[in-house]
Amino acid sequence: MLNKKIEDICNRQIEREGYSSNLYLAMAVWAETTGLSGIAAWMYAQSGEERLHMLKFIKYVNERGGKSVIPSFRQPPAEFESVEAVFREVLKHEEFITASINEIVALTLDEKDFNTHNFLQWFVMEQVEEEASVKTILDKVKLVGKNNMYEFDKDIIGLRRTSGTDQPT
Ligand SMILES: [Fe+2]
Ligand SMILES: [Fe+2]
Repeated sequence: MLNKKIEDICNRQIEREGYSSNLYLAMAVWAETTGLSGIAAWMYAQSGEERLHMLKFIKYVNERGGKSVIPSFRQPPAEFESVEAVFREVLKHEEFITASINEIVALTLDEKDFNTHNFLQWFVMEQVEEEASVKTILDKVKLVGKNNMYEFDKDIIGLRRTSGTDQPT
């Protein structure tokens, strides 16, 4: 059975993964209405993955005798300065999520909750991959500059990895 502190911090993460999903959805809308359909496809896929992350936490909390809370979400930004600004924002957000996951890992050690500690290992690995993949994209965006966005938009979907897409268990 989950203790209250662990249940609460997992619920906090449900909100954060859900917000991530909405944030990337907002970025997908921005890209799609800016004529960047490749970037939009990447963002829609990313948004779907974040929803699966939220579901993983929801199911885990319920399974362990807690109760997930489905929160309201604040509205993500709708306008972005440029493609580079968007991916800088994504990287900043993923770094925030990594810190958030690490905080939960630390709490599970304090509370000697080794089941949750074990559950979190998937997320620890996932965050390493997320940050690396976004950094690669950001490097490429900087490389092409504003002028070659047409080519970059065609290529970005090929940069997607597949490991983050597993179904929630
Ligand atoms: Fe996530
Ligand atoms: Fe993520």
